[in-house]
Amino acid sequence: MHKELDDFFEDVITVRLTPERDGLDIIDQTLLPGIRKRICLRTKEEIWNAIRELKVRGAPAIGVAAAYGMAVTADHIQAEDFSAFYHALVEIKNYLASSRPTAVNLFWALNRMEQRALAEKEKSLDTVKAALFEEADRIREEDVAISRNIGELGFGLLKKLKKEGEPIGILTHCNAGTLATAKYGTATAPMYLALEHGWEGTDMHVYCDETRPLLQGARLTAYELCHAGITTTLQCDNMASVLMKSGKIHIVFTGCDRVAINGDSANKIGTNQVAILARHYGIPFYICAPSSTIDKSCPDGDHIPIEQRSPDEVTQMWYKERMAPEGVDVFNPAFDVTDHDLITGIITEKGVCHAPFAEDFARLKI
Ligand code: MRU
Repeated sequence: MHKELDDFFEDVITVRLTPERDGLDIIDQTLLPGIRKRICLRTKEEIWNAIRELKVRGAPAIGVAAAYGMAVTADHIQAEDFSAFYHALVEIKNYLASSRPTAVNLFWALNRMEQRALAEKEKSLDTVKAALFEEADRIREEDVAISRNIGELGFGLLKKLKKEGEPIGILTHCNAGTLATAKYGTATAPMYLALEHGWEGTDMHVYCDETRPLLQGARLTAYELCHAGITTTLQCDNMASVLMKSGKIHIVFTGCDRVAINGDSANKIGTNQVAILARHYGIPFYICAPSSTIDKSCPDGDHIPIEQRSPDEVTQMWYKERMAPEGVDVFNPAFDVTDHDLITGIITEKGVCHAPFAEDFARLKI
């Protein structure tokens, strides 16, 4: 990848430890794209709030933040023995788990941290604490490798669909980019890998849905892709059908927050309508997801908890003045579920899964 893009990735790293390893150093995504500011989180309350307020967001990045959050805050636990330490650790885990309900990576990462502590329980508490830092580092490093694999597989699909001399049109929703992960993103990974494999930014034309109400597409995806030199167009969510009808979109890539075992996939609100449109216009619709996003305990989309957020995000946020009457009832779910039969494939790091998804997940040992 070219140096400028690598430098950009370095500048916007979502989550890392402070050099003293006593806190989380995150880029505050609520300030992007106007202000690129890193902030430090030390207490469990600061970490909880940063996740809740979307200062750090996107399923894999939330998992990494929670893992480091557990390591950093567990380091301060004063306990006589493992049993007392473990009790305090589980309290931290349960508290961080209550920050957001939908992205399963949060619970997956927290469980992995708990399991690591249990695996070390015969050792000294200092060793257990050090192991928690090691596990969080590992979760972060694995995420880079996982999204790279997703990118390779997605790039394979782009190569098949691309016509000589024409940019391939890709539509994406929300931000499943570098800002949502530890490096390549999931939905953006095929684009970044395309650059690594020698494509020019003009070989692709990425259409970013603005993504109401929190504008992750406009503020974050368009920001990253413009930095990468990829031809990028931003449209409001209700403009996607016009683009699809005109033949400009050849493939859709989105991320996701939780996949049920039958393939139903929860992602940012509005994803389901993109999938319905894609089906109508005969455009392949792919979900890009690390296998940690597949929740084997969840039979179908009806069992995925959907986060409801504040009405203010719809009525007044981003506006100079309130744009809806006081007291109006507001519907503001943060996610929706795309039915599995609308999904062409789910690209995981282990392979591309097709319907019946449960069989493919089993085949790939997910
Ligand atoms: O509310 P957000 O911004 O955390 O929602 C993010 C998404 O919906 C992403 O598409 C998803 O987490 C996948 S990120 C690789």
